[in-house]
Amino acid sequence: MGAEPLLKLTDVKSCYGNIQALHGISLEVYPNEVVCLIGSNGAGKTTTLMNIMGVVRPTCGEIVFAGKRLNGLATPRIVSMGISCVPEGRRIFPALTVEENLQMGAYTQRGATSEIEETMSWVYELFPILKERRTQMGGTLSGGQQQMLAVGRGLMARPRIMLLDEPSLGLAPLLVEQVLGAVTRIKQEGVTVLLVEQNALAALEISERGYVLENGNVVLTDKASALIDNETVRKSYLGQE
Ligand SMILES: Nc1ncnc2c1ncn2[C@@H]1O[C@H](COP(=O)(O)OP(=O)(O)O)[C@@H](O)[C@H]1O
Ligand SMILES: [Mg+2]
Repeated sequence: MGAEPLLKLTDVKSCYGNIQALHGISLEVYPNEVVCLIGSNGAGKTTTLMNIMGVVRPTCGEIVFAGKRLNGLATPRIVSMGISCVPEGRRIFPALTVEENLQMGAYTQRGATSEIEETMSWVYELFPILKERRTQMGGTLSGGQQQMLAVGRGLMARPRIMLLDEPSLGLAPLLVEQVLGAVTRIKQEGVTVLLVEQNALAALEISERGYVLENGNVVLTDKASALIDNETVRKSYLGQE
């Protein structure tokens, strides 16, 4: 853990109309950590990520990335500062090839063709299957491969931190392992990760620390290993008695 957090949320509150979704979320992600957010449906995990990306605005509180305040900045600006988000539901472009999908992820690096090519080689090294399929339409890939493509596209922006919203949703156990294995490789490449997962145990196993969200509040935070051993967490989120 570095001395300064790379990303820091302080008392972030957020509303949809008159529904308050976040009641004061505070969390920190340090450089080169994988940190996971767990919690039931509707707990506020996606809303937290959307606040970081500037898609949803906090009504109160502060979001600071690499020492800079993000509140009020437009999403493209936030992306260009080094934050990349892979939203829920792997929204790749089905009628574009794998390679074209990846190029779409590099839109913040307009002009620098050689850099984009270099980044693409890096993504292909991380996900050899994407290289194999690079001329195939995105829509012809399996669910797991589409998720790899969505992650690869996010990496094309050369982020310092990646936000992943339920990357393993709807995938068979073997593919869950593959996708979360990719998260570990991304971390080894020096990219910090904030991971949202319903698959709490699998997520905690690859994370340094975790935050448990309930009804728009952080109710618990600890080292991942301690959360795995925590009785309440085991009962509520890991499906174990
Ligand atoms: N677009 C929206 N409009 C209104 N309410 C929303 C919207 N998106 C989420 N919510 C509400 O905000 C709360 C948090 O949702 P969300 O952040 O999606 O939770 P999670 O990702 O943990 O399942 C829930 O009560 C949900 O119903
Ligand atoms: Mg969600």
